[in-house]
Amino acid sequence: MDSNCITLTRFVLAEQKKAPGATGELTQLLNSVQTAVKVISYAVRKAGITKLFGTAGETNVQGEEVKKLDVLANELFINMLKSSYTVALLISEENETVIEIETERRGKYIVAFDPLDGSSNIDCLVSIGSIFAIWKKTDNTAPTLADGLQPGNQVVAAGYALYGSATMMVLSLGSGVNGFMLDPSIGEFILTDKDMKIPQKGNIYSINEGYTHLWDDAIKEYVQNKKDPSKGKPYNARYVGSMVADVHRTIKYGGVFIYPATKASPNGKLRLLYECIPMAFIMTQAGGAASNGQIPILDIQPKTIHERSPIFLGSPDDVDEILQTIQKHKK
Ligand code: AHM
Ligand code: MG
Repeated sequence: MDSNCITLTRFVLAEQKKAPGATGELTQLLNSVQTAVKVISYAVRKAGITKLFGTAGETNVQGEEVKKLDVLANELFINMLKSSYTVALLISEENETVIEIETERRGKYIVAFDPLDGSSNIDCLVSIGSIFAIWKKTDNTAPTLADGLQPGNQVVAAGYALYGSATMMVLSLGSGVNGFMLDPSIGEFILTDKDMKIPQKGNIYSINEGYTHLWDDAIKEYVQNKKDPSKGKPYNARYVGSMVADVHRTIKYGGVFIYPATKASPNGKLRLLYECIPMAFIMTQAGGAASNGQIPILDIQPKTIHERSPIFLGSPDDVDEILQTIQKHKK
């Protein structure tokens, strides 16, 4: 056992010490996220045994209500963040409207999160994840909806937790990306992936190809080219269907993850505030690129809390190639 290992808490504390005027509030906030993630990880691992799958509203043998994993994850994020005294406003994929924190417990941060992403993979034990982005309130007044609609280029920190073959938290405080593996024997996240960088170019494309008939011509051409040996060595196809798993693989191995606009969903499927922006922030910090096909994801001004955006993210050379294909088709 390493007697001087770098835990996530230790890492965040050290980073905050470097920031002039830091109050420790962000450290406290991230600790509360960490607690939520640890409990979610535990619940994911125990889900089959404690019957956390299936529909909410069922009762267990003790007659207590059994919560679905996604309901439990949402409550954990909300309760831990509220009691951290660091947030003013919360935006959750699971809640239709923003959650305003009462004055006594209010802090200066805004957090948008998807407490358990990859819903179609929960019941079949495929990797799922949690995603979050943190902004600062712009002034000292009571929080308004506008505070929750800040663009990605104002993000203070973002991260995700992947409940995969191990549980990992990947975090960026705006100066690189670091990955922490949960050591279940001590219940701590340990720094295992220091200063993560995505390869400049990869050989994997990740997109739901079942929707080919709904794509526009640029996407069809790009994906076709990736499979055509006359256009270079064909890429591998990988698609988990959990954004966190697909993005994590993309950072580690390179390549591109795409959820484009389709005829059925003209703005794509993924949500801007708590899926696209946090992942774009991390991807950019890891040396990658993230675009909606026109502009960087981080430059989009959000208009509503649950709005969607098409997304192309991954290795810079691969994203560039897609953007060029899109431009070519516009002419
Ligand atoms: P969810 O919020 O219902 O879990 O949906 C989000 C998920 C992402 O994790 C994943 O990238 C995408 O939906 C997959 O969608 P599709 O099944 O259309 O390919
Ligand atoms: Mg989601």
